[in-house]
Amino acid sequence: MTNSTSPGSKKFLIKTFGCQMNVYDSERMSELLGNEGYTPTENADEADLVILNTCHIREKAAEKVYSEVGRLRQAANARRAQGGETLIAVAGCVAQAEGPEIMRRAPAVNMVFGPQTYHRLPEMLAKAREAQTRGQAARVLDTDFPAEAKFDQLPKKRGVNGPAAFVTAQEGCDKFCTFCVVPYTRGAEVSRPVAAIEDEVRALIDSGVVEITLLGQNVNAYHGVDAAGQDVTLAGLVRRLARIDGLKRIRYTTSHPRDMTDDLIAAHGEIEKLMPYLHLPVQAGSDRILAAMNRKHTAESYLKLIERLKAARPDLALSGDFIVGFPGETEEDFQATLDLVKAVRYAQAYSFKYSPRPGTPAADMEQQVPEDEKSDRLARLQALLNQHQLEFNQASVGKTVPVLFERQGKHPGQLVGRSPWMQAVHVLAPDHAIGDLVHCKLLSAGANSLEGGLADRLAAA
Ligand code: 5AD
Ligand code: SF4
Repeated sequence: MTNSTSPGSKKFLIKTFGCQMNVYDSERMSELLGNEGYTPTENADEADLVILNTCHIREKAAEKVYSEVGRLRQAANARRAQGGETLIAVAGCVAQAEGPEIMRRAPAVNMVFGPQTYHRLPEMLAKAREAQTRGQAARVLDTDFPAEAKFDQLPKKRGVNGPAAFVTAQEGCDKFCTFCVVPYTRGAEVSRPVAAIEDEVRALIDSGVVEITLLGQNVNAYHGVDAAGQDVTLAGLVRRLARIDGLKRIRYTTSHPRDMTDDLIAAHGEIEKLMPYLHLPVQAGSDRILAAMNRKHTAESYLKLIERLKAARPDLALSGDFIVGFPGETEEDFQATLDLVKAVRYAQAYSFKYSPRPGTPAADMEQQVPEDEKSDRLARLQALLNQHQLEFNQASVGKTVPVLFERQGKHPGQLVGRSPWMQAVHVLAPDHAIGDLVHCKLLSAGANSLEGGLADRLAAA
């Protein structure tokens, strides 16, 4: 449905912060706006609508939003002087957590909506525009957790961003780690029905996608229903998707160690399309800290789990998330994190200083760790993680591996693709190879990417 003000060639800009789920949500909002007749722009000065899709997980997220809004307000004022109108919207997890506060503190913001209500964007826009035509300030706040299923209301997803796409399988989280805002901003776990995911994957394949990553804050807790009303686990979902012709690679992220079930572990050994790379955050290596984090696993149970995964799939590469400086973390606790890292040897990792999130239990804990201590531990942890990442990549040099070319590289004539283990590989190859899975020989390695050559060209040379 096109709204009554018929926006014609109106332009929009979405600035995305944070996780893959936000990237996905921004893509869906773009599609929704495309259906409303909006076209994208990179330039805030000519945008009729600017959406900040925000992240609340770490650092001074809200302050960043206010300073970004301040800059946008100036751009909007400049446009108004020339007869244009810019609507400013704040979406995502900061909006969900602090909606009314944003409305109060930032009068320049016209719309505030959370991750569960962006499917109502056309209605919100119509309301805002109607207020404008009446000469009133356009102000809309929508941060419900609505009863209707958001995904049913969204247009069908199109594959417009290359051969690898994200597909939401699950949203929200019931784990309540004591440092984390996700259970509050994204709400309780909700899984999409199997058929909806299969339909989306088929539509993506029709538009040239060959690799999908199933997304969810706690994706391995997935428990959707199939057409017969039966409960389906993530392993079951992956098995069904693997049967779809044309789909070549399947990944999923992010997983909680507690939800790595036997059938999912077995799937890693049995399903060829399931890539040998798993993002399995552990957060810390000290059992005392893990308990205070409410992680519901120990360092030992995590290491055992990895042993079982590797027994199923020996070449499995692991990636993880770490927090240093959680309240009460001593040097000894931190050493336990380093020990765990040395035992696992991650292929890739994301590590952060603990950042108190208002409203979460850990924010009120005593014994907050001083900032300089956190920085020092983070630097030491990252040095170790980087070294392992480099060693993992170096160990691949000389191998010939299938690379899915995703896009052009920085240098002319170069493409960038991913190995099965998520390594970025730069290769001299023609543009028409984008979207192809091609055997490449890995020639050299850095910590963040590798250089390769087309295997058949090297063989012919
Ligand atoms: N402080 C620092 N890092 C955090 N994360 C989540 N909440 C916080 C916080 N309050 C990290 C965790 C999580 C990743 C997505 O972000 O490591 O796995
Ligand atoms: Fe947050 Fe992940 Fe813990 Fe859920 S499992 S509360 S999303 S860190």
